Amino acid sequence: MLAALPVLAASGPASASDQGPAPRRSTVRNRLRVPPLAGSTTDADGVRRFELTMRRGRSELLPGTWTETLGFNGPHLGPTIRLRRGETVQMAVTNQLDEVSTVHWHGIRLPARMDGGPHQPIEPGATWTPRWTVDQPAATFWYHPHRQGSTASQVYRGLAGLLLVDEPDGPELPGTYGVDDIPLILQDKRFAPDGSLAGDPLRGTYGILGDRVLVNGTHDPYLEVTTERVRFRLLNGSNARVYHVRFADRRGFHVVANDAGLLDTPVEVDEISLTPAERVEIVARSTPGETATLRSVGGSTDIDQGDFDLLQIVAGTRLAASPPPDWTSRTPVTTLGARVRRFRLDGHDTINGRRMDLSRIDEVVPAGAREIWEVENGDHTHNFHIHGVSFRVLDVDGAPPPAHLAGPKDTVHVPKRVTVRLAVRFGHHTDPTAPYMYHCHILRHEDSGMMGQFVVVEPGTEEQVSRCLAAADAPSGRSHSDGTPSPSY
Ligand code: C2O
Ligand code: CU
Ligand code: CU
Repeated sequence: MLAALPVLAASGPASASDQGPAPRRSTVRNRLRVPPLAGSTTDADGVRRFELTMRRGRSELLPGTWTETLGFNGPHLGPTIRLRRGETVQMAVTNQLDEVSTVHWHGIRLPARMDGGPHQPIEPGATWTPRWTVDQPAATFWYHPHRQGSTASQVYRGLAGLLLVDEPDGPELPGTYGVDDIPLILQDKRFAPDGSLAGDPLRGTYGILGDRVLVNGTHDPYLEVTTERVRFRLLNGSNARVYHVRFADRRGFHVVANDAGLLDTPVEVDEISLTPAERVEIVARSTPGETATLRSVGGSTDIDQGDFDLLQIVAGTRLAASPPPDWTSRTPVTTLGARVRRFRLDGHDTINGRRMDLSRIDEVVPAGAREIWEVENGDHTHNFHIHGVSFRVLDVDGAPPPAHLAGPKDTVHVPKRVTVRLAVRFGHHTDPTAPYMYHCHILRHEDSGMMGQFVVVEPGTEEQVSRCLAAADAPSGRSHSDGTPSPSY
């Protein structure tokens, strides 16, 4: 099993920093780093335990230059956590930083108290131990901090990792991690001349737009492949940047999964777009001996300027055969009689005219409900993410989404002056005093209040639920992070 590829020591001069708008390329190519798989131990009761430690470190993000970064179990980013549907897992998350943080399991369906949102702060030195049973289809998820006001800064400095859910009976897809199943975490950065990360993640309309794009923390990477087909799991782990990803030669590839699960059938396209926090799984083909370039090209959203080469894919002269992705299933999306809720994204710090308030419950949803969430956007680019659920995009300004965006998702681009309607299926974990979040995932917007809270409650009890969280349930001044599960867990 190939867990981690060694980091290629770069020779040659350190790349100069560039604050200008034009994307730059260095002349040194670096082997793509692949995050190691997270180790685990299994208890006698069958619960699998993982340990994550948030810490500081120094990383060679640009060849020859050292940068102060944050990471889980290492100096930068985090290990890839791989879970199986049906198993019960427990995370022990220790905060060795000198600032409060949280760890949110983006896309995972679990009780709100395990969600790692702003109501589950982990104080410096504390350990938080959420536990849940994995109950959702196979897909590519991720974990990252979610403390109100510091999410942008903590993610930017390196706190992010992948979380993969596997299912035993899925269709045949390339699946050997690090060999023909490769994660690609796309993140743009700005570097000061001394190598430190530059830019204020809370400034301007969108926060930071970097002039360097790193893939899994690797600058200017290449990957050697040994199989005819490779599955790439792309995550936009950037604070704000939108990527439009294609091959330089415009070859087609198959989209096999959206954020939260497989498509009903693979769809061939030659370009996909990813707004922050969105994921897509693609299967791409190589021919023996060739080098193909995956790149991102500029667009018109205000946060996608510039062309960047993301990855050179270097194919061996003999490639192991792998079958094309091929299946069909049909997932009916029922919205008959579904309640409609409306959300308007205004400016860059409110939803429905209100800024996020940790003590206010904005929406009360009965467990198991199917609803239509209608998200209308104003004059800035945004996206929309809902915790604890997956949804289907019903339509974008009245038109059905393209086939490659019709799969299960948890984050969706809402272009300027456009209305997106989502068919949302809510879960069964009820708790009237522990909210889930919905928000724009451009971290500058999320941190400044473009976020709301909903609780999931027993059907029929909606009217009895308090819309105001009592002080004991609000996060201020109180830590739930002493490592002792509360009885309501
Ligand atoms: Cu990826 Cu509320 O988060
Ligand atoms: Cu989330
Ligand atoms: Cu936004």
